[in-house]
Amino acid sequence: MLFQIKSYLKFLWKSKNEHGVHSPFVFLLVTKCFYDSKPKPDPSGSEQAKQYLVLENYRNSLLVNKNSIEVTDFGAGSKVFKSNKRQIAKIAKTAGISRKRAELLFRITNYFQPETILEIGTSLGLATAALALGNPKATITTLEGCSETANQCQLQLQKFNFNTVELVVSEFSEYFETINHQPSTINLIYFDGNHSKKATLDYLEFLLPTINNETVWIFDDIHWSKEMEDAWEIIKKHPKVTVTIDTFQWGLVFFRREQPKEHFVIRV
Ligand SMILES: C[S@@+](CC[C@H](N)C(=O)[O-])C[C@H]1O[C@@H](n2cnc3c(N)ncnc32)[C@H](O)[C@@H]1O
Repeated sequence: MLFQIKSYLKFLWKSKNEHGVHSPFVFLLVTKCFYDSKPKPDPSGSEQAKQYLVLENYRNSLLVNKNSIEVTDFGAGSKVFKSNKRQIAKIAKTAGISRKRAELLFRITNYFQPETILEIGTSLGLATAALALGNPKATITTLEGCSETANQCQLQLQKFNFNTVELVVSEFSEYFETINHQPSTINLIYFDGNHSKKATLDYLEFLLPTINNETVWIFDDIHWSKEMEDAWEIIKKHPKVTVTIDTFQWGLVFFRREQPKEHFVIRV
């Protein structure tokens, strides 16, 4: 906790808003997407308000679900280490993306319109719903190792008619082994599963064959621990990575060859 407070203070010291940003690509992303949080009274604005409401309803229907499931717990950086009973409402409250972040994820997906999306770590699908709403035409694959959590999520996705999502029940590395034989392009990846340095860097190497010039990667919890901060620094230095944006909670990574290598720290 003390580590995160220190880290957040450093972030506040280094971070900027759109005014310090000279890259047109990043300036537009910040102003037209990151900061475009309030639905406007025009037709597209009210469309955004409707989508936010769907996300809210999805969340609320989980928060009132007092049923319990037996969860297979995947420890950060380790294999399965225990099983235990947890209430759906509690899982939604603790493991899922926050309301504000879900709306931002929706806007990022809506802004870039990625055709193929991979989410690493589904839980009950709070972020999956944001990805699916952001681009209803996208093909979305989301990975979850715990079969009971995945079953609950599948029911929830069906209830809200998210038919473009393929939920794959698999340990992450096992799934990557299968796709690595014939990698195809993935336009957006949301990394929200195993928050350890080793796993994060392994997944980076596994998934690099899937990038193209437009690919966007979003790493959750880059300041969660010293290990994750180390991983973030290594990601920034990777020769294939050009632009990165640190928003404290997330690290966004771009591979656009036309961009000079530059690292931004932006308050969202
Ligand atoms: C933080 S939660 C995902 C939250 C979700 N993205 C959201 O915003 O609602 C991470 C999920 O990843 C799963 N997970 C963690 N490590 C895994 C692994 N190595 N293989 C498969 N699933 C894993 C956990 O079971 C958990 O449900």
